[in-house]
Amino acid sequence: MTGWLDLTGKGALVVGAGGLGGASALSLARQGMATVVVDRDTAALDRVATAAADAGHALVTLVADISTPEACRAVVAESVARVGAPRAFVHAVGRNDRRPVLELGDADWESIVTLNLSTAWWLGQEVGRRMVAEGCGRMVFVSSVSAHLAHAHHAPYAATKGGINQMMRVMAREWASHGVTVNAVGPGYVETDLTRAYLDRDGHREELEALVPARRLGDPAEVADAVTFLLSDRARFITGQCLYVDGGRTLV
Ligand SMILES: NC(=O)c1ccc[n+]([C@@H]2O[C@H](COP(=O)([O-])OP(=O)(O)OC[C@H]3O[C@@H](n4cnc5c(N)ncnc54)[C@H](O)[C@@H]3O)[C@@H](O)[C@H]2O)c1
Repeated sequence: MTGWLDLTGKGALVVGAGGLGGASALSLARQGMATVVVDRDTAALDRVATAAADAGHALVTLVADISTPEACRAVVAESVARVGAPRAFVHAVGRNDRRPVLELGDADWESIVTLNLSTAWWLGQEVGRRMVAEGCGRMVFVSSVSAHLAHAHHAPYAATKGGINQMMRVMAREWASHGVTVNAVGPGYVETDLTRAYLDRDGHREELEALVPARRLGDPAEVADAVTFLLSDRARFITGQCLYVDGGRTLV
């Protein structure tokens, strides 16, 4: 499998070491990529580093809060210093606030837009600048089925995920002739820290499983597999796409 994907020795930057970012970083390290993983949560970074070490792989962890454009640019510069120009970039940070539109204030909107969408812009632009200069690169943004469906109590989250998909499509178009591909994955319900508390309450797990044609939630490794494929040369002619990894959730 390692040879088929042909990622060995190439530099990767994964921002977000939670359930999906962590699984993606681990998958890339397993493919032999020189992987930098960034998060503000040292415990999340330690979990990924330990899982990688247990599997016989090393990755570089970087503690940073990416809430500002300056912080995002510093993260990219540090990653380049550690593993060279990124051949692969993954944006895997995001937050949801499951309340109705009429209960959310300006600060709630602002904080979700900043974390989910603005950081994708700041990081994508800075990484893209380097990939275009190098004449090659692959990016994957972690979007969501919420980019496509209109779940109640998801307004700011859905807006950011729809925004990610459109931003990704324009980046893909502008950079295609420079050897850079830009795609997204759209996970359905996957059990991670982002969703665990909600899934554990009031029969939500069963309710959500019933909405998925595959009749189960996803596993972070299943999202990481799609991310890894899109970052590989096997996906070299795929750009501007959101690959839904959702057990059929967006079909119904
Ligand atoms: N889990 C799901 O079911 C699901 C479904 C669809 C999409 N997604 C998307 O996948 C992405 C990753 O989600 P996840 O499930 O891995 O969530 P998660 O909560 O497990 O991980 C998110 C990580 O982001 C980090 N983070 C948050 N704010 C930060 C900041 N300012 N600076 C640095 N790090 C910060 C957190 O510390 C955490 O480790 C998100 O964009 C989310 O919207 C998740």
